[in-house]
Amino acid sequence: MTRRNYEAQQAALTQQRMVGNEQATLQREEAKNSGTSARLITVSEPAGAASEAYRSLRTSLLYTQVDRPTKVLLVTSAGSEEGKTTVCANLGVVLAQAGKNTLIIDCDLRRPAVHKVFGLRNIAGIVDILADERSLSESWQEPLPDLSLKVVTAGPLPPNPAELLSSRRLSQFLAEVRSEFDYVLIDSPPARLVSDPIILATQGDGVLLTLDAQTTRKVDVRRTVRSLTTVGANVLGTVMTNVKGTKQAYY
Ligand SMILES: Nc1ncnc2c1ncn2[C@@H]1O[C@H](COP(=O)(O)OP(=O)(O)OP(=O)(O)O)[C@@H](O)[C@H]1O
Ligand SMILES: [Mg+2]
Repeated sequence: MTRRNYEAQQAALTQQRMVGNEQATLQREEAKNSGTSARLITVSEPAGAASEAYRSLRTSLLYTQVDRPTKVLLVTSAGSEEGKTTVCANLGVVLAQAGKNTLIIDCDLRRPAVHKVFGLRNIAGIVDILADERSLSESWQEPLPDLSLKVVTAGPLPPNPAELLSSRRLSQFLAEVRSEFDYVLIDSPPARLVSDPIILATQGDGVLLTLDAQTTRKVDVRRTVRSLTTVGANVLGTVMTNVKGTKQAYY
């Protein structure tokens, strides 16, 4: 990711947070009506700066990895509430807006939230697919009828998430979706707290790390990058959210 793109994302994501605060009430009303959450800024405000930042992230993905296309992308972060689900959902939307056949899978089997962002029900999901109780086409949902975006929610919380994600069934499933979709985005729990993202990282083509400018500690980001690269994961870059003030920070 270039420094210019990174800078644009930071500025725009700051604006997303400010706009988010000011218009929270209004957006909550809209979300109720449209079935999508206020966090889906790329749908509620496609012309806004935050949406532009997501498009510039999309451009980085589409054009900087020409030799080794990144098809299956894991979104994770060191700690909790660092923007994983929000980034995963909005990146999925802008990829689909570019005509890419996109699938989002909620592999956060601890605190799943992709369904909340898209206003979907979480009755069945990836857990049912991995248990061979449902097929992919029985499990996906299409939250935004105009877009080629499919979402597989988490499903019922399993007692053994890490074990389930280590199963051969997951690699088989990812091989299937790899041939069916242009992009597959995987949401996950915090990498510092559980091993699930490290397991998932070995299955994907690349990892995007989100971090919260106010709360994420650099040492945790470094540790997370180290654990990811140790298992051979391709860490593509970071997306910083919740940037306040004018002082810019770079990692
Ligand atoms: N409905 C909402 N509207 C606005 N902001 C929200 C909403 N839900 C969560 N947030 C805030 O947005 C930020 C990012 O949340 P998000 O769920 O994307 O993070 P996350 O890294 O996926 O969290 P988790 O570790 O719980 O999976 C958090 O600070 C969170 O408090
Ligand atoms: Mg989340």
